[in-house]
Amino acid sequence: MPPKKKQTTTGTGSSTDDAADFEKLGVFYLGRPFDLAAKQAKPGWLLYDSKDLVTHAVCVGMTGSGKTGLCVGLLEEAAIDGIPAIVIDPKGDLANLLLTFPQLRGEDFAPWINEDDARKKGLSPTDFAAQQAALWEKGLGDWGQRGERIKKLRDAADFVVYTPGSNAGISISILKAFSVPPPEITQDLELLREQVSATVTSLLGLIKVSTDTLNSPPHILLSAILESAWKKGHNLDLTTLIQQIQTPPFERMGALDIEAFYPSEHPSEDPYKSRFSLAKRLNNLLASPAFEIWKQGVALDIDSFLHTAEGKPKLSILSIAHLNDAERMFFVTLLLGQMLAWMRRQSGTTSLRAILYMDEIFGYFPPVANPPSKAPLLTLLKQARAFGLGVVLATQNPVDLDYKGLANTGTWFIGRLQTERDKARVLEGLEGALASSGGKFDKARMEQTLAGLGSRIFLMHNVHEDEPEVFQTRWTLSYLRGPLTRTQIKALMEPIKTQFIPLVTPDETSSEQEAFGNQPLLQSGRPLLPPGVPQQFVPIRSVRPTGAKLVYQPMILGSAKVRFVDSKINIDIGRDVTIMAPIREGVMTVDWDHAIEASFDLSDLEQASVGEALFANLPNLAGKAKSYETFSKDFTGWLYQAQKFEIFRSPTSKAISLPGEPERDFRVRLQQAGREQRDQQSEALRKKYSPKIAALQDRIRRAEQMVERQQAESRSSQIQAAISVGATILGAFLGRKTISTGNIGKATTAIRGAGRAMKESKDVSQAEDNVAALQQQLTALEAEFKAEADALVAATDPLTEKLEPLSLRPTKSNISIKLVALAWVPHWRAADGTSLPAWS
Ligand SMILES: Nc1ncnc2c1ncn2[C@@H]1O[C@H](COP(=O)(O)OP(=O)(O)OP(=O)(O)O)[C@@H](O)[C@H]1O
Ligand SMILES: [Mg+2]
Repeated sequence: MPPKKKQTTTGTGSSTDDAADFEKLGVFYLGRPFDLAAKQAKPGWLLYDSKDLVTHAVCVGMTGSGKTGLCVGLLEEAAIDGIPAIVIDPKGDLANLLLTFPQLRGEDFAPWINEDDARKKGLSPTDFAAQQAALWEKGLGDWGQRGERIKKLRDAADFVVYTPGSNAGISISILKAFSVPPPEITQDLELLREQVSATVTSLLGLIKVSTDTLNSPPHILLSAILESAWKKGHNLDLTTLIQQIQTPPFERMGALDIEAFYPSEHPSEDPYKSRFSLAKRLNNLLASPAFEIWKQGVALDIDSFLHTAEGKPKLSILSIAHLNDAERMFFVTLLLGQMLAWMRRQSGTTSLRAILYMDEIFGYFPPVANPPSKAPLLTLLKQARAFGLGVVLATQNPVDLDYKGLANTGTWFIGRLQTERDKARVLEGLEGALASSGGKFDKARMEQTLAGLGSRIFLMHNVHEDEPEVFQTRWTLSYLRGPLTRTQIKALMEPIKTQFIPLVTPDETSSEQEAFGNQPLLQSGRPLLPPGVPQQFVPIRSVRPTGAKLVYQPMILGSAKVRFVDSKINIDIGRDVTIMAPIREGVMTVDWDHAIEASFDLSDLEQASVGEALFANLPNLAGKAKSYETFSKDFTGWLYQAQKFEIFRSPTSKAISLPGEPERDFRVRLQQAGREQRDQQSEALRKKYSPKIAALQDRIRRAEQMVERQQAESRSSQIQAAISVGATILGAFLGRKTISTGNIGKATTAIRGAGRAMKESKDVSQAEDNVAALQQQLTALEAEFKAEADALVAATDPLTEKLEPLSLRPTKSNISIKLVALAWVPHWRAADGTSLPAWS
């Protein structure tokens, strides 16, 4: 009697299993391991640890090799994990991330299909759309994904297409882009200079003033203007910049008088020869109708690209396909500068916080030349890790990469390459990167692997893992239809455009003018006041507009320290309040309710006016020393009434928001904290299961040897068994990382005796039983792991958790007044009577 055929397979990853099984573990499902020799995917998953991305990734491969597909998959995984991303899209196909249709119906696809493709296939658009929908459903199904996962992706983040310099998508205004960077940058001279230089170079590129040399007068002058403004904390806009080119705020450049260094006028139109010509160039740009669109739109604000007003993660696609080279460089450089500034404001973390992805880095990060984008990119690659910002760079042109700058890049995705030169260059780069991380490098084997790669097949080299792995990228949830047209972007963004609030240059004077009411009379000398009247002069902080007069207006300055205490939740926070209130002559009182916040320290106050100045009439009340006692009492009363400290508490994590931290920012912070905790738990699971799997692996290996021995002796029976640890979720999760013993990557052991005969004997059935028992153990271990992994999910989502609002008020004894005095507040009064604050 022939023995019954025994089938022992695991293969859990081979068909339609739900990817949801590993979504709580902080791993990205990028594809499946691929067997180059057999030319087919192996069962299982290729999972990438999200926190490995903090050491950045580079993705190279020839056109059509599947880079964008791979990176779209990665961005999808990140979004599902709540990680926001900024995507720089020079080619226009990343907006495909918005083409996600959970129901996978032909009519969903129809508006987005490529009609040329339909025509070529001789199909009506409707039929072609139905075909595409079916293709996507099948493709996803083959990779164990269904419509629910598409829905999950859509729900996890907001997807927005920004189009700087165009109003097809959400336009971006660059007006604020010359504002002072945060103190973290201005206080670091090297960083400040770097940012100044990059901004100036890209701006000069935009007005076609050659930037080959950083030693040209235009570059030096603009840099000096920007640096001096930023150091003083002044924002610059293009108009002011143009003014300052003509009348710089300094008289010397190094040892030279400014006129000798770079004359204001010259008969030629050459911007190198005269400041006037340079100013004119910049002004032509500013005045050109095409530039108008750069002044409209939302602020270039990284924070708002990464999270919505509610704190929900965002995937912001910055589409620059429509721009010319100089405009692209200008925008990318500004963006990178803002990115650096944003990064410097984040707290340290070991978990991934956000991704910056650039789809085609060609021209922005070359080995020899030095375009303005290069310095900020280099700095990002060096420093972003500590802040949890993962930079992902893709290119089809491996010869154009600065490999030295990529030396610290942790993950290399290498796809099919066309030329030998390309392959050689990438391998050289990878070798260099590995040398700096101490990894081993088998060049001959790598060469052989690279030669065998096909489209969507990549070699992944991750410094956090023991082994490189060849894998096939999974099918993307998004419909990869190729570059979107302007009209299509418009169609995608039009419905949500109203949610975006365009940047308007704030009318800084309005609140203050209101506070002053009627224009008071002016006198040219400082009014003579009795000695008991405390008076102070607010320092001047802005440049005098041409022809403007300096006018001091009187206000009452109040400064106090207010403490908020709640011992139950262990809070004791002090807040400094320094405000300036208008004096209402009619009602004879100080109007603390309409006070404006002072942007200076008390120690900055001066004792005298600066230069020639006019003084507005002082209301009688403010000229009497006695009044100041009353003012002080009123101020205390007002603080007691009006000051409150509002914070939020997360009931689950018990975390409390920081002073002044908006709910949105608090929620964003809670998400990151949750992710850090999750990553730790995930790591603990790895530590726990690694040795268990390794031990089991050992026994599998022995069973395998036994089966082989039996097989050698037997002819008549068959044993067909495959135990593949790598095909289990647990195996994929442990990946190629050594934790304690053994190497899980190698643990993928197949016991195959298919087709081979085996003698019927006691030994045979014993071998079979052994295999079956081991299989059972593996299944049990996997079940145990799954149960633990499921328990990892936080009970609440920081985005939707109901936060407890707490409102603390000060007691009278917790208010201590530092100063109540008459403040002379400087203004610039133009000839037409309009007035601008000179102190902010
Ligand atoms: N993961 C994927 N899922 C489904 N289709 C894919 C995937 N990856 C690639 N494709 C298909 O292959 C085509 C080419 O891939 P992709 O655009 O990713 O190449 P690329 O390497 O980015 O090329 P280029 O350098 O020209 O941008 C895509 O338009 C898409 O049709
Ligand atoms: Mg591409």
